[in-house]
Amino acid sequence: MSDDLKLVLSPEDINRRVSELAAEISQDLGARDLVLVGILKGAFIFLSDLARQMTCSCYLEFVRVASYGASTESSGNIELTKAPEMELAGHDVVVVEDIVDTGLTVRWLKDYLAELGCRRVRVCALIDKPERRKVDLELDYVGFRVPKGFLVGYGLDYNEQYRYLPGVYEIVRQG
Ligand code: IMP
Ligand code: MG
Repeated sequence: MSDDLKLVLSPEDINRRVSELAAEISQDLGARDLVLVGILKGAFIFLSDLARQMTCSCYLEFVRVASYGASTESSGNIELTKAPEMELAGHDVVVVEDIVDTGLTVRWLKDYLAELGCRRVRVCALIDKPERRKVDLELDYVGFRVPKGFLVGYGLDYNEQYRYLPGVYEIVRQG
């Protein structure tokens, strides 16, 4: 079995947009003790580029969540497999996510971070893919809106493949 990949976002598109997002977040939240919280593994490349374009100081933290069930859709059965190590209470937090699909992962994480006592919890997603959204969710910073399709590259994977690609591609499975 092989996969066909169709380019959706070039590295140049991504770089330009990431720098705009970093400027916006820095301007909105820069006066605070800001923490960017990346969701592993998918967001690690996005977070590393975003962080390096921030124009204010910020802390970097990671969490990892697992959602068990079908391989290409979130089951909603979410478990935190790596908790934050920093004390986040009182901080402004921006959750950095690669792609928001059903919204279940980010919805769960926002509630979790609010319970930890974070001051404000905002969300920055590289890609908003609204077609399969299951929960009402406000995304504060969105890089790109892609209506549908399964995307890989720039941290996004299909069965752990393709994360290393510098652009984002739609995957077209060939029998
Ligand atoms: P949720 O459905 O919004 O909870 O998204 C859960 C996770 O599914 C995301 O963090 C991604 O890791 C993964 N995911 C959803 N859509 C895609 C996609 O198009 N490509 C790769 N991963 C995806
Ligand atoms: Mg993810």
